[in-house]
Amino acid sequence: MKVQVNGIPVAYTDQGSGPPLVLLHAFPLNRTMWEPQLTAFAARARTIAIDLRGHGESRPGHTPHTLDDLATDIKYLLDHLRIERAVFLGLSMGGYILMALYRLHPELVKGLVLADTRAQADSSEGRAGRFEMIRTAQTLGAAAIADVMMPRLLSDRTLTSDPGLSAKVRSMIIQNPIETIVADLQAMASRPDSVPLLAHIGCPTLVLVGELDRGTPPSDARFMADRIPGAHLTVLHGAAHLSNLEEPEAFNRAVLSFLEEIEGSRG
Ligand code: MLT
Repeated sequence: MKVQVNGIPVAYTDQGSGPPLVLLHAFPLNRTMWEPQLTAFAARARTIAIDLRGHGESRPGHTPHTLDDLATDIKYLLDHLRIERAVFLGLSMGGYILMALYRLHPELVKGLVLADTRAQADSSEGRAGRFEMIRTAQTLGAAAIADVMMPRLLSDRTLTSDPGLSAKVRSMIIQNPIETIVADLQAMASRPDSVPLLAHIGCPTLVLVGELDRGTPPSDARFMADRIPGAHLTVLHGAAHLSNLEEPEAFNRAVLSFLEEIEGSRG
C-alpha cells in the first residue's frame, strides 16, 4: 500500500489484526527485511512495516533529511491509519528513529522494542567513518556500500554458509538511490545523544541484541537496558547485527512474549 505522507509517497504493509505493532527497518535496507517476522507477528497484532522515505518502494523526499523528519513521517502515517498508540520495533537506524519519535510524540508509544541499536550519538571517529562512506557512495555507488556493510550486518557464518540470505541483504542495499544512502548517513551522523532520554522512557521496553553484533554490541544494549526503567534485555545467541534475519525464531519469540506481557498488563 502507498499513501502520501508529508507530500511523499510512502509504502507500507499492513497485515493482521489486533493491537498495532509498527516495524522500522535498518540502514540501508527496506521493509522486506521483516519477512520472517510478518506472518508470526500478524497472527497476534496489526503489523505495519514501513519503507522509510527513499527506501524500498517509498519515494525520496527533500534531502538532506533528519531522523526527526523520518519520525514525523511515521506520525503522519499513523494519523492516516487512525492509530493513536502502538508498540514500535526498530532495528539499528530504526531504533535511532524510535528515540526521535519518543522525544517528539511519547503519547504515541505504548511499548518499545529497541533491537541492535544504541542511545549514544556518534563518536567523532564514527562520524568521520560516515563521511568516508558518503564519499564511497558518491564515487563508487551502492555496490561499494554493500561491500562495506555486509560484514557489519551479518555474521561470518551467514556470509560463508547462507548465500541466499546474504544475496537478499545485498540486493536490498543496492536498490537504494545514492541520495537516500547519503541522506541517511548525514542524518545518523548528526543525531543527538539520546542517553539523557533513557531515564524518561515510561513505557514497557524490550532491548534485543545479537551476541555477535559488532556495530551495536551487547554492551550498548546493556547500557540502554540498565537506564530505561523496567526494561528487559534479551541477547540472541549466534546472531550478529541483523538479528531478526539470522535468528528469526528466537527474535520472534522474544517480541511475541513482550507483546503478550504488554497486552496482559496495560490497555
Ligand atoms: C543500521 O543497521 O541501521 C546501521 O548499521 C546503523 C548505523 O550505521 O549506526
